[in-house]
Amino acid sequence: MRLLVTGGCGFIGANFLYAMRRNHPDWRLFNLDKLTYAGNLGSLRALEAEAGPAYTFIHGDIGDRDLVSATLSEHKIDAVVNFAAESHVDRSIDDPAPFVTTNVLGAQNVLECARRAGTGRVVHVSTDEVYGSLGATGQFHETTPIAPNSPYSASKAGADLLARAYHETYGQDIVVTRCSNNYGPFQFPEKLIPLMYTRAIAGEPLPVYGDGQNVRDWIFVDDHCRGVELALLKGRAGAVYNFGGASEMPNLEVVRTVLRLTGQNDTLIRFVTDRPGHDRRYAMNFDLAARELGFAPSVTFAEGMARTIAWYQANSVWLDEVQSGAYRTFMNSWYKERA
Ligand code: NAD
Ligand code: DAU
Repeated sequence: MRLLVTGGCGFIGANFLYAMRRNHPDWRLFNLDKLTYAGNLGSLRALEAEAGPAYTFIHGDIGDRDLVSATLSEHKIDAVVNFAAESHVDRSIDDPAPFVTTNVLGAQNVLECARRAGTGRVVHVSTDEVYGSLGATGQFHETTPIAPNSPYSASKAGADLLARAYHETYGQDIVVTRCSNNYGPFQFPEKLIPLMYTRAIAGEPLPVYGDGQNVRDWIFVDDHCRGVELALLKGRAGAVYNFGGASEMPNLEVVRTVLRLTGQNDTLIRFVTDRPGHDRRYAMNFDLAARELGFAPSVTFAEGMARTIAWYQANSVWLDEVQSGAYRTFMNSWYKERA
């Protein structure tokens, strides 16, 4: 297999590339990434060194028609997994435009280039956030109506609908995956768990939005990567598959877990102004993926958190590297407004 992964320098894409290298050493892996503030070549240094010519990095934008077309044809790509996206909800509230550009127009360009090149399967990686918010009970199913509440989730929903339309209209081999909140190695420290870790080890206040009772369904990143791999290898063309961690938890509990694992205490917690349009609860039903793909999350939250914190403790250089000037500018202005 000659596989093009987009957004492979980000959190999940990097974990996915390592997993594919481990599971399929005979595959040729290509990674097209724009290297936005969230993309980090350093995350793939070990892969580059170990895989040699079996891994190729291509610097560029998924919205660039010429580049994506040339990549697909020149490298004779068999399948694409599209991870590339603007992924942070808070940034989408601050400035929605890049989210539409990459997550809608960029994703459409990937579908279009793959269609024209006659590339095989495209797996489009999406999110549970397209379904909106749940009340105290219930779960999202693949048939739940799409009702996104943030510019981020609306842009992801736009791409999901384009993927559906490309399959229906052109008969293109496309599979959409929707996953809940990931955590694990290489996650950028703007997201809840690594942000709380960086603050906790510095003894700085931990900003918890609203009452801290918003619920997310946490999945260790390796389990999500396994789901995407299964969708690539066994998914039904035109299908949407939900993946979840069967691990629902209020944010406050997650934050307290980070404090415990870093040897800090609850006095660092600060309740700050809530995120506008903050979804209350997510919970994924993944029976379809279990039935058709054999998907099941395998890492418990306790085990995954212990592994994650241990990884951050062992990789302080990576953490320092990614907290660049651009990172600091957004973080300072966003949290200043909420204190
Ligand atoms: P991330 O922000 O860590 O990484 C995104 C990567 O995409 C970066 O390497 C960035 O440089 C690259 N990128 C951004 N715009 C690009 C463009 N125009 N062209 C090429 N590359 C570009 O994101 P992540 O958390 O790894 O998420 C990856 C995908 O998974 C996204 O599509 C996201 O919507 C989806 N997802 C994430 C989660 C989660 O919990 N993080 C859950 C479900 C789905
Ligand atoms: O559900 C899947 C989604 O999970 C992905 O599609 C997104 O790409 C990914 O960023 C993530 O979105 P969330 O908004 O759920 O993740 P985030 O880590 O930003 O926030 C998790 C929860 O923690 C959410 O309820 C908001 C809260 N939070 C977050 C931050 C950054 C805080 O209370 N304080 C914070 O400082």
